Amino acid sequence: MTDANEKGIIVEESAKEVIPVKKAITLIIAISLLLLMASCSQSKEEQRQSATEKENTTVETTAQPTANGEISAAEFDFRSKTVKLNSGYEMPILGLGTWTLSNEEAENSVYHALKDGYRLFDTARYYQCEIGVGKGIQKAVAEGIVKREDVFVTSKIMPSDYERAAQGINDSLHDLGLDYIDLMLIHQPGSNDEAVYKAMEQAVRDGKVRSIGISNYYTPEAFDKVMSYAQIPPAVIQNENHIYYQNTALQEYVRKYGVVVESWYPFGGRGHTSENFNNETVTAIAKSHGKTTAQIILRWHLQAGYIAIPGSSNPDHIAENFQIFDFELSDDEMRQMAAVNQNRRYENW
Ligand SMILES: NC(=O)c1ccc[n+]([C@@H]2O[C@H](COP(=O)([O-])OP(=O)(O)OC[C@H]3O[C@@H](n4cnc5c(N)ncnc54)[C@H](OP(=O)(O)O)[C@@H]3O)[C@@H](O)[C@H]2O)c1
Repeated sequence: MTDANEKGIIVEESAKEVIPVKKAITLIIAISLLLLMASCSQSKEEQRQSATEKENTTVETTAQPTANGEISAAEFDFRSKTVKLNSGYEMPILGLGTWTLSNEEAENSVYHALKDGYRLFDTARYYQCEIGVGKGIQKAVAEGIVKREDVFVTSKIMPSDYERAAQGINDSLHDLGLDYIDLMLIHQPGSNDEAVYKAMEQAVRDGKVRSIGISNYYTPEAFDKVMSYAQIPPAVIQNENHIYYQNTALQEYVRKYGVVVESWYPFGGRGHTSENFNNETVTAIAKSHGKTTAQIILRWHLQAGYIAIPGSSNPDHIAENFQIFDFELSDDEMRQMAAVNQNRRYENW
């Protein structure tokens, strides 16, 4: 045995074959190299697979081309109450807005809304109620009313955060108490939108945000500018949009990119709601359906292809605003609603 150890090693006891030491070392090195190469090629394969997964995620975040290569306009599904975004994710078409709500009001409103069937919530860092929105969701999740993955949360990067957009997204995640945000928007155009947009794209790659979009971009030119640097196209444009400002030109223009327009101020916003609720056309249509004018207006938003996020802290209004899936406006009624348009905005930002 000693002899064998000095001159070589016994590789197989039964065969009693002795391999010279140098040969054995060469063999060990060769085997080690083979093993190393195998493990390298395996990790390359793993890398390739994970790159494919990333590519697939990217495919999901780009608009879906139709058979003839065109990009399909997003369709609203009134049964599931959702629309499939160009990011590949489903977004509810009716939600709750939280502008002007305190954290406490936001928590209660979100909680009530979830019990009523709402799954979409719109907030922003600027509103300072992300904590309340998050708490409302967490309360409903804890009570088994809903699962996190069934809820769609939108937030927006505040203009004063535009120099620190990545941090702004982290702050939103922290305050909402979520590990991802469904839709993040640039709140309004600024001087460094490109850098802010790129920070949102990075957040998508990092899994912090699922879809991204823009808010308060009103013209095809403004949209084109974003498209000129976007690697991930916007999924949603959230703009002032109501019966007196329908901006169908923008909707038509972005439709070919699979971009959906979402209406803020669906009722005209505080201080203007009575002008909207008391509109003669709306009132007459409401009477014929036995619905409130708020419900007619919301149904019009959805049938016109606009996601709507009426704001409210009143549980009765919140419940009323969701009762719009049991009737339909006729083509003639939709034409009448279109004729109410005056291309008139209430705000100028
Ligand atoms: N991206 C942006 O720059 C931007 C700007 C503005 C708003 N937003 C978003 O859009 C959301 C909607 O806009 P908004 O909340 O300002 O205006 P809005 O939805 O047009 O109107 C809200 C007002 O309507 C009242 N209301 C709601 N439902 C009602 C009903 N069924 N009957 C009677 N009154 C009713 C609310 O009062 P009660 O509380 O009493 O129900 C509130 O005074 C905001 O909450 C926010 O999330 C975004």
